Amino acid sequence: MSEKSFVMLKPDAVSRRLVGKILARFEEKGLQIVAVKLLQISKNLAEEHYGEHKDKPFFNSLIEYITSAPSLALVIKGDDVISVIRKIVGATNPKEADLGTIRGDFAMDMGRNIIHASDSLESAKREITLFFKENEVIDYDISD
Ligand code: CMP
Repeated sequence: MSEKSFVMLKPDAVSRRLVGKILARFEEKGLQIVAVKLLQISKNLAEEHYGEHKDKPFFNSLIEYITSAPSLALVIKGDDVISVIRKIVGATNPKEADLGTIRGDFAMDMGRNIIHASDSLESAKREITLFFKENEVIDYDISD
């Protein structure tokens, strides 16, 4: 069944000009972009998005990094979208991520792991609502 996930290309992806290469991986796999927004994330939005990590030792540096330069927020639609996207993205620690995954191919540092993807449909709904208004997500179908 087709569902939606939230994906964010972090500041490194944008400043290293990797946006096109990364989006191509999702499109070539057969997933569909249904919303996209380049934005400078505010401290408030970053703290809300990463609220579950607020007691972690890396929280402050995570917020500082994510607000340091523009990010690209996306909603991506497809069958089994959460698990398919997480396979394409790779393990959280880029040093452990398999080659062929986005983190495995483009990143080295846990704090700069280049991309975020929702870990469940519940988080996806919460994250999509945080970053997008309802009318910014275009629920169209494309025939194969
Ligand atoms: P992300 O998928 O965006 O979700 C939370 C982020 O916190 C994660 O990617 C990493 O960038 C960051 N993170 C998780 N664990 C650590 C850690 N041990 N040290 C630094 N950053 C971390």
